[in-house]
Amino acid sequence: AAAHKTFSPEELVQKFPLFEGLSEEQREALVLHFHPKSAQPGERVIRAGDVADEAYFISSGEVEVSVSGRRIKLRAGAVFGEMALLSGQPRSADVTAIDYSEFLTLSRGDFRQFVRKYPSIRSQVAALAAQRGQMNEQW
Ligand code: CMP
Repeated sequence: AAAHKTFSPEELVQKFPLFEGLSEEQREALVLHFHPKSAQPGERVIRAGDVADEAYFISSGEVEVSVSGRRIKLRAGAVFGEMALLSGQPRSADVTAIDYSEFLTLSRGDFRQFVRKYPSIRSQVAALAAQRGQMNEQW
């Protein structure tokens, strides 16, 4: 079997469509704010109703969002935990790791600073959060 390659945060940042518009310098600056985290299969990463303290970018693995009795899978390159940070509301859903998963996280303060600094990223993340919120209301 092929050995798992370990990606550096610099390499990981390149995998996220959200960061495509950033320059090399901007990516390097962003990387300094990331905290790596991981979760075992079955581990709950976010609990609905909790106060939000960080946003998650999936660098490997897979998680399941559980909301209104529905389950949505998110994989590498996806972001989650952005809704509560943008809205100031409690966490809107449970998020559980399906596979062993690795994340880059941004603290609430760093996330806010980050989206304030890059309005085009802010609008992408806000559009994503709005879309997810609408989806959840319809169910
Ligand atoms: P937050 O509310 O902070 O915490 C739970 C997260 O689950 C939420 O942010 C979103 O990132 C994610 N989430 C909630 N609803 C959906 C959905 N319909 N599709 C994908 N992700 C979702």
